[in-house]
Amino acid sequence: MKKIEKTPKNITWDMSSAEKGEYDDFMLKEIYEQPKAIRETIGARVAKGQKVVLDELDFTKEYLQSVDRIYIVACGTAMHAGLTVRKILEGFCKIQTEIDIASEFRYRDPLVTKNSLCIFISQSGETADTIAALKLAKSKGAKTIAISNVIGSSITNEADYSLYTHAGPEIAVASTKAYTSQIVLLAILGIYFAEVLGVAEKEVEKLKEELLSVPTKIEEILKDTSKIKKFALNMSKETNAFYIGRGIDSSVAMEGALKLKEISYIHSESYSAGELKHGAIALIENGVTVVGIMTDPDLTHKTISNLQEVITRGAKTFIVTNQDLENVTFDEVIRIAPISPYISPVLSVIPLQLLAYYISKEKGLDVDKPRNLAKSVTVE
Ligand code: M6R
Repeated sequence: MKKIEKTPKNITWDMSSAEKGEYDDFMLKEIYEQPKAIRETIGARVAKGQKVVLDELDFTKEYLQSVDRIYIVACGTAMHAGLTVRKILEGFCKIQTEIDIASEFRYRDPLVTKNSLCIFISQSGETADTIAALKLAKSKGAKTIAISNVIGSSITNEADYSLYTHAGPEIAVASTKAYTSQIVLLAILGIYFAEVLGVAEKEVEKLKEELLSVPTKIEEILKDTSKIKKFALNMSKETNAFYIGRGIDSSVAMEGALKLKEISYIHSESYSAGELKHGAIALIENGVTVVGIMTDPDLTHKTISNLQEVITRGAKTFIVTNQDLENVTFDEVIRIAPISPYISPVLSVIPLQLLAYYISKEKGLDVDKPRNLAKSVTVE
């Protein structure tokens, strides 16, 4: 018999983190836990005026300069989190970055080489397609990093390096705090790469300050959710909704639409706002809801113009923004604090999570256990 040596791993989760406490549902509890979860993700990794500390990694400038491409691979919400870091990796680090769905990556014979760096994101660390994608990247000689919330999960056992989000247990099927903590950890990773490479010093320093401000800014959004709740009551009667944004806002549109369909069973689609006129605008008719997200000053006026096109066709609009809206009238505007467009989904997603939650409650659905879905998809 072969003896296997294992190093014990400590998990700091306590019983209360697996109970609903004062909340009706785990999803609502987990939405409200996001400031705390993100403080845990940041931990001692980021401090103003100091280099990011990621003890788990030992990358050198020479190694990062030799990376031909970064692949970020995941499923569902974790993939949406992956989309957010491309702007840092390509914009600051100048490393070409591809984000892929694990179930596609594993079957498309990707051009992964031994100079590729592959990052796999999975809250549970047990998603079958993500594990298979990781094994494939390893078999092609790539270096692999796992990002997970669960200590000792399968992807962390397989990967060369593991980074934990430390968000605490996520029990509701609809992912909330795992998503925002993944975005924060990915941004920290991107900053680490930029610092090792010695690039974009000023921008990176500013981004660290912005990261440290995130928990307080989420608390501000959570203080008053009445406008979101009111809009949700009307929207709960609908059968279709569209989510649009540009750049990083289009990735949060994808996440908002997924949250809505997952727990409210309302058909929802997300589009890069510029794509609307290439087909989907045909579906816009009187009374349909269009959710618009605008956090990037360079792209806001473009999205506003797309929103004007849907308003002309009778759409109802729900806007999440921190931008000047140039006197255009929308049905509801949820204002979030100013934040760098490199990480803005950590704030802009909060009203979208709450919108989906309140609609699901209004419809009397089981928020935490939506039909046909499992928390962890361990089969293909
Ligand atoms: O555990 P994982 O992060 O690998 O799960 C991936 C997806 O199954 C998951 O994010 C799913 O999309 C969520 N239910 C969405 O809320």
